[in-house]
Parts: sequence; structure tokens; C-alpha cells
Amino acid sequence: MSKIHAAITAVHGYVPDYVLTNKELETIVDTNDEWITSRTGIKERRILKGEGLGTSDLAVPAVEALLKKRGITANEIDLIIFCTTTPDRVFPATANILADKIGAKEAWGFDLQAACSGFLFGLATGSQFIESGKHKKVLVVGGDKMSSITNYKDRATCIIFGDGAGAVLLEPNDEGNGVIDSILKSDGAGVQYLHQKAGGSIKPASHATVDADEHFAYQEGQAVFKFAVTNMADVAAEVMEKNNLNSEDIAWLVPHQANKRIIDATANRTGVSPEKVIINIERYGNTTNGTIPLCLWEWESKFKKGDNLILAAFGGGFTWGSIYLKWAY
Ligand SMILES: CC(C)(COP(=O)(O)OP(=O)(O)OC[C@H]1O[C@@H](n2cnc3c(N)ncnc32)[C@H](O)[C@@H]1OP(=O)(O)O)[C@@H](O)C(=O)NCCC(=O)NCCS
Repeated sequence: MSKIHAAITAVHGYVPDYVLTNKELETIVDTNDEWITSRTGIKERRILKGEGLGTSDLAVPAVEALLKKRGITANEIDLIIFCTTTPDRVFPATANILADKIGAKEAWGFDLQAACSGFLFGLATGSQFIESGKHKKVLVVGGDKMSSITNYKDRATCIIFGDGAGAVLLEPNDEGNGVIDSILKSDGAGVQYLHQKAGGSIKPASHATVDADEHFAYQEGQAVFKFAVTNMADVAAEVMEKNNLNSEDIAWLVPHQANKRIIDATANRTGVSPEKVIINIERYGNTTNGTIPLCLWEWESKFKKGDNLILAAFGGGFTWGSIYLKWAY
């Protein structure tokens, strides 16, 4: 019997309507379109406006459209893995909240926190449940309301982040398509460069933490850039070498959308030509867990059955990794 792989059988994404342009950011902090575009490649990002709305509200439209596309009901889902750094609440898991909102009564679920690499970690984790035969339908969601932890007084970070979510459905495939291999890495020594100072158990929320802006993402941009640019490129090249793939074998490179310069470095290192590199950072910025599923969603119509895709990400923690998958439809 041929090996069972976990294949993506449907994908959908959602970004909120509000467009925060570089021009508008010029009115909020001391910056300009030319600086942002040349340093990051970002022109605009989407922001979820409205009281009482969280990351699950970004995921609901993406998942509902995905289910419709695949022609299944929410009750057919066995497991929901919600990859996010901005959960609706510290607890319970946003996966539970999403399950309730979409009416998935038969699913269990959990949140997965690996910052910007979360979606890849979730894809690799979800694949195990399919490969083992334990589950038939696993929903992997990647989404973040980054505007909820972005300090709009800090010009070096507020220009980067945006809100958005995407989801994929994993199902068993016996034709050799699906997730073939992954290399995933973590290094907690990187915590100092990118983290949220307060709101966790070591520093619970207080008046003082709010006054000191400690509930926002804190980033030492240059240090993060240095680690990201080498590690994301290296791990993508590593997964290709391990699977005897050269640049011509790759139909699409799907990089985390953190910074256009980091994407270009990954493309150069892997030798994948520019027309095969998926980039939407100019429209959405860095949506953290949302970037890769949003790319898959927007390019879905261009993918062909059997296409080799290399997914690569780097994020806070530090976390990084790459997945080799063969598109299944
Ligand atoms: C954040 C980032 C774009 C900043 O670019 P940079 O070239 O490293 O910029 P620096 O922080 O060194 O700042 C350079 C100068 O630009 C200024 N600057 C920072 N943000 C600015 C902005 N939005 N507009 C104008 N000037 C800005 C700085 O104040 C500094 O000025 P100075 O030299 O007078 O002190 C870049 O470091 C980066 O992309 N890092 C990786 C971030 C990332 O990918 N994070 C997510 C990981 S998943």
C-alpha cells in the first residue's frame, strides 16, 4: 500500500476591509512612503476595526468559504489547529472559540504559538494526525490581529504589521501528493530581540505595564533581520537539498512575508527565479501566522497537481522552518 501523505485539499483566506496605507502612517508617525517601501516592500496593510472583534473573527470568513468550496460541513472536521500569536484571549484556546463560531461540534482543537513560523509548525503537526490514520480532516488556521499588539508610536514596528487569516484543510492522499518533508527549528535565545514584555505570567498586566507600553510587540529590527535573512534562506535550501531538489524542480517558493529583502535573500539562496516567488507583502504587510496561507489562497488558481512547493518562515522565539509539499489538485 502506498504511503499516506497529508494533502491540502482546500485553502481560503480573509483580510479585513480597512486599508492602512503608507500615506496614512505618515500622519501617525514620523515616516514616509519611500522609507517604508525601500526597507520593507510594504505599501499598505489591512486592519480589523470594530469593538470586540478578535483573531477568530478573521478566521471565520476564511474557514466558512473553505468549507463551502470543499463541499463539506463544519461537523466533518476532526481537529482544528489555530496558529496565532494574538489569540482572542489568554485562555481558552481560539481554536475552541472558532469551533463554536463555525459550528464544528465533532472537532477537538488547540492553539499553536510559534510566532511567524506558527503556520508551518501547525501544518507539520496536523500532517502527523493524517499520516497516522487518526484523523481524516484537519483544519490548520493561521491568523493574527497584529494591530492589537502594535505600538502606533513606534515607527520601526508599526509600519510592518497587518491583520489577516488563512486556512487549509488537510486530508489523506495516496497519490504521492501532500506534505513530503519538513525541517523545523526553535532557539529560545532569540527571545530578547522580539517579544511582548507584559501580559504573560512573568509580568501580568498592571497600570504600570500599560503606561510603559509593554503590551505591544517589542522588536530590535536589525538583529531580527540578521537572523531571519540567513536562517530562513538556509532552512529552505536545506529542505531542498535533503529531498534532492534543485531550483528547476520548484514550481513555487512561498516565503513568510516579513520583509521584501528577506524574501529576496531566500529566493537567491535557493536559486528559485523571481516569477516563481509568491509575494503579496506590498498589500498586506506582515500578518504573522496569516502570511503563508494568504499566499496559498491568492495563488491557488495558478497551482497544478503535482507542483513542488517550498514553504519557508522565520519568526520570534526564534523559530524557523521549511516545508516541502506537492500540490494535490
Ligand atoms: C524593522 C526594519 C524595517 C528597520 O529597518 P532598518 O534598516 O533595520 O532600520 P533601523 O532600525 O536600523 O533604523 C535606521 C534608521 O531609520 C529610522 N527609522 C526606523 N523606522 C523608520 C520609519 N518607519 N521611517 C523612517 N525612519 C525610520 C531609525 O530611527 C534609524 O534612524 P537613525 O539612524 O537616525 O537612528 C528592519 O530592521 C527589519 O525589517 N527587520 C526585520 C523585521 C522582521 O522581519 N520582523 C518579523 C520577523 S518574523
